Order: sequence, then structure tokens, then C-alpha cells
Amino acid sequence: MSQQVQGVISRAKGAPVELTTIVVPDPGPGEAVVRVLACGVCHTDLHYREGGINDEYPFLLGHEAAGIVESVGPNVTEIVPGDHVVLNWRAVCGHCRACRRGRPQYCFDTHNAEQSMTLEDGTELTPALGIGAFAEKTLVAAGQCTKVDPTASPAAAGLLGCGIMAGIGAAINTGGVTRGDSVAVIGCGGVGNAAVAGARLAGANRIIAVDLEERKLEWARGFGATHTVDARVSDPVEAIRDLTDGFGADVVIDAVGLPKTYEQAFYARDLAGTVVLVGVPTPEMRLELPLLDVFGRGGALKSSWYGDCLPSRDFPMLIDLYTQGRLDLDGFVTETIGIGDVEEAFGRMERGEVLRSVVLL
Ligand SMILES: NC(=O)c1ccc[n+]([C@@H]2O[C@H](COP(=O)([O-])OP(=O)(O)OC[C@H]3O[C@@H](n4cnc5c(N)ncnc54)[C@H](O)[C@@H]3O)[C@@H](O)[C@H]2O)c1
Ligand SMILES: [Zn+2]
Ligand SMILES: [Zn+2]
Repeated sequence: MSQQVQGVISRAKGAPVELTTIVVPDPGPGEAVVRVLACGVCHTDLHYREGGINDEYPFLLGHEAAGIVESVGPNVTEIVPGDHVVLNWRAVCGHCRACRRGRPQYCFDTHNAEQSMTLEDGTELTPALGIGAFAEKTLVAAGQCTKVDPTASPAAAGLLGCGIMAGIGAAINTGGVTRGDSVAVIGCGGVGNAAVAGARLAGANRIIAVDLEERKLEWARGFGATHTVDARVSDPVEAIRDLTDGFGADVVIDAVGLPKTYEQAFYARDLAGTVVLVGVPTPEMRLELPLLDVFGRGGALKSSWYGDCLPSRDFPMLIDLYTQGRLDLDGFVTETIGIGDVEEAFGRMERGEVLRSVVLL
């Protein structure tokens, strides 16, 4: 029997989101229905509403979520009803070329639920990132559910499902930050500040946070930045070099994703250092760099998708660090809101007033 629950949909490009009744089918083979406890508001949800991802309206928004498995379909063995889970948007297939080579974090064939959730009139919904968790219940592929310690606060745990994992992973997985490294992070929203927190976890001894807003730099100090640079006042490249004895940082993370910030990251790193691009550029953006500098400065220019995470490896580990008080996930939860408040939360996000607003259900 399918169920009717409340969910937040985006019906048309640019139109305000709506809370409405949605229909969630029973889980089929390899699927699970999850009762959502908390779901963070991410820029990607707004991109969907604005038509920036694709035109497959109506969208069921929300994807940074934690919940409890309510029911599972046939052939599901890895989770059972009652499990506390964080939802992920890269359920690895186990069979593709990347998976077979032991690099499932690059899986080329990640999957979502086969069946669709719908509106009451039968219109199929497109769930954001294959999740759709601004809803009392959602249908996902079982592999999108990663079991975690049930004592962790759902509001904090759910954030690992997207932006916070992307930032932490950009530092520790993609950037390979280790003890004694100097790290600079350009752009300290939720993702950049998570990179700051990740760099601290990994033992970086100098962590330089760069942003255009003092509020963001203040948060960055809380997450472990040892130095901050206001890019409205100082040139970030010169400032980062000055703070690293003239050399540049070992790892520079661009959590904005503009040609300008990428170029700053490129020149603010030490010889043979690493640039990590985690901010997402738009299609028209172009980069121009002297190829001789790409050669002569050596090192690595990397991009980070979802922090190169492996949910089954990284989510439980980070939740353990959180419950031990070593990773301040609560610090990313600027406010908790109701399921009817997503549209207003988009406004606060655009004005830079929050790291994350989290819907509690
Ligand atoms: N790679 C991934 O898998 C992944 C996952 C989630 C989000 N993201 C991307 O990460 C980026 C950051 O996301 P967020 O949620 O932190 O966004 P956000 O808007 O909260 O943060 C961006 C920050 O960058 C700052 N900024 C803007 N221009 C700047 C400049 N020129 N110099 C210095 N700072 C500048 C802003 O003041 C803001 O604090 C976005 O592009 C988002 O799409 C990537
Ligand atoms: Zn695969
Ligand atoms: Zn997201």
C-alpha cells in the first residue's frame, strides 16, 4: 500500500516551493522507505528550483538527510527497519570499471530507487539528487542508506549527506591533508568551513580561511582556522604567501568555484602543492593560465566530487568523531526550521546569514 505524506516540491522554474501531499510507494526490490527526521537546506535545492540542474519539474526537494528505515523491499540485506541512516546520493554499483578497480568512490553507475514518488494525480516527481527528503517519508535505493550511530543528533548527522561531507572530504580525501600541512580554504560557507574542520581533523598546523564576509571568517575560526583573510581588504594570494613564510600553502581548496578564486588557489599554493576545486562552476566559465606555470609549479590540480567520499566508510567514522566531541557538526546547524519554512530559508541562504538551515520533521 502506498502512503500519502507531506513534501516540499518545486513545480515551475523560479516559482516559490510548495508544501503538498505526495504519494510514496511501498519499497520494491532493492529499495527502502525512510522516515525522515532532519534535512538540511543546500544550494543545490535552490539550483533545482531555478532550473539550473534540469527541466524535469516537479522536483521533490531536499537531500541532506537523516532518518529511520521504515520498510525495505525484497533482496535488501544491508539495512533493516529501525536502522538510523544518513542518506547519500552516490550508492555505488559494485560492478563498474571504477568499482572493480577498487575505487568505488568514483563509481560511474550510482543508482537510485526504480519506482517514482508522485503527486496525488499521478504526476511523477523528480527527487533532488535521487533523494527528495523535504518529506515526512521518502523512497530511495537501499544503497543510499548508510547506517550510523543512532545516538547522533539527526540534524547534525544528515549534513554529512552532502555539503559538509563534500568539504571535509575535499581536505582529507581529495587534498590528502596530513599532519603539519599548511592549508588555505577560499570561500567559507558550509562547504569551505567543513574543509577547515577537515583540515584540523587531519592535523594541519596552519589553516588559512579566506572569505568576503566577516561573519564567515568568525565561523571559520570556530572550526579551526588559525588565520583569516578578508578578501575585500587583502589580496588572498599575497596574504596566504605571507602567512606561509613566503612559500604558499601545501593544499589550497577553492570552495567557491569561480575562475578568479581558482586562479588565486593556483598561485597561493607552494611549489608541488595541491589545488582542490570543490565549488561548482557554471558552464560559461573559462580559465586562462600560462601553461608554463602549470608545468613549472608542479603538484596536482584536482577536483572533488562529494569529497571523494565512500559513504559506508566515511559517514560512520565521522559520526563517531562527532559523538566523541572531535568534530563539531552542530556548529554547521545555524537554525532548525519546520517543513513549511524552506522558501524563507532559501532567502537567508542567499543573503549569507546561515551555514545551514535544517528542517526537523
Ligand atoms: N563538489 C561537490 O560535491 C559539492 C557538494 C556540495 C556543494 N558544492 C559546491 O560548493 C560551493 C560552496 O557551497 P556552500 O554551500 O558553502 O555555499 P555558500 O554560498 O554558503 O558559500 C560560499 C562562500 O564563498 C564566499 N565567496 C564568494 N565569492 C568569494 C570570493 N571571490 N572570495 C572569497 N570568498 C568568496 C561567500 O562569501 C560564501 O561565504 C558551491 O559551489 C556548491 O555548489 C560542491
Ligand atoms: Zn560502480
Ligand atoms: Zn547538497
